[in-house]
Amino acid sequence: MSERTPMIEMRNVSKHFGSVIALNDISMQVYAGEVMCLLGDNGAGKSTLIKTLSGVHRPTHGELLLDDRPTRFKSPAYALDAGIATVFQDLAMIPLMSITRNFFMGREPTVGWGPMKRIDWKHADRVAKEEMAKIGIDVRDPGQPVGTLSGGERQCVAIARAVYFGAKVLILDEPTSALGVKQASVVLRYIAKARANGLAVIFITHNVHHAFPVADAFTLLSRGGSLGTFRKEDITREEVLNMMAGGAELESLDAELAEFQRSDGEHKRAAAGDEVAPSASSTQAARG
Ligand SMILES: Nc1ncnc2c1ncn2[C@@H]1O[C@H](COP(=O)(O)OP(=O)(O)OP(=O)(O)O)[C@@H](O)[C@H]1O
Ligand SMILES: [Mg+2]
Repeated sequence: MSERTPMIEMRNVSKHFGSVIALNDISMQVYAGEVMCLLGDNGAGKSTLIKTLSGVHRPTHGELLLDDRPTRFKSPAYALDAGIATVFQDLAMIPLMSITRNFFMGREPTVGWGPMKRIDWKHADRVAKEEMAKIGIDVRDPGQPVGTLSGGERQCVAIARAVYFGAKVLILDEPTSALGVKQASVVLRYIAKARANGLAVIFITHNVHHAFPVADAFTLLSRGGSLGTFRKEDITREEVLNMMAGGAELESLDAELAEFQRSDGEHKRAAAGDEVAPSASSTQAARG
């Protein structure tokens, strides 16, 4: 296993925004046919990491390797051309435009030459319908606006588009966070399918129940640093859950909530009797 070449790799990558160190010396490898789950609290650097991989940010230090070749992307368009497709949480889709138009946005198939050249909508409609059917979503009319699809189906259009245009690396920033159980499972199933097709997938989620079934490995970020990469066979669901939420943080939350309840009780008693302002220390504790 150690002899394999990663499809995409970060070597000692740092990213600074002025004095903010958003990423600090991150090394990570993602292999073809595998899903890497990126875990970490809000502000840990997950989005910055994937933006660095997808050409939005240039690393301050370190290097990126795509299929073992050092790579620098001038812009997201270059990363996309190199086969790195990113689906951002706030999807780059236009709700009023049709499924087909969203699917092909910027890469419309054409027929004819010279002044006779035009977009081949018939072909485009057929491909969009076929590609959605492949992932189990029956689109009766690919001309219907994307806005009429559910959140999960919209995520699937974005992923289907990436796969259709030959992505080697698929990056998903919290694709399931706004979805119900059923819709999330549609997206998770599709992630598993992308993996089976040999894509290297990077999947960001805050939900251990979404992460665990599809992940082959987990990388944990904390305050811009990496706490390591763990293979799924070496870690339990509980351990992943602990890393995500931070066991210590949950404990201190327990204490805070108890304090909150206590001061709330005091407050109610005070309201029933004479006015008492909550003490500065209990307000502080409730804020953390
Ligand atoms: N363009 C920027 N300019 C300055 N600071 C930034 C910029 N982008 C991110 N940061 C900072 O870098 C840190 C990491 O942010 P990032 O968005 O990567 O976190 P995240 O792990 O994706 O969090 P979340 O789970 O909330 O999405 C934060 O402290 C953030 O304020
Ligand atoms: Mg983020």
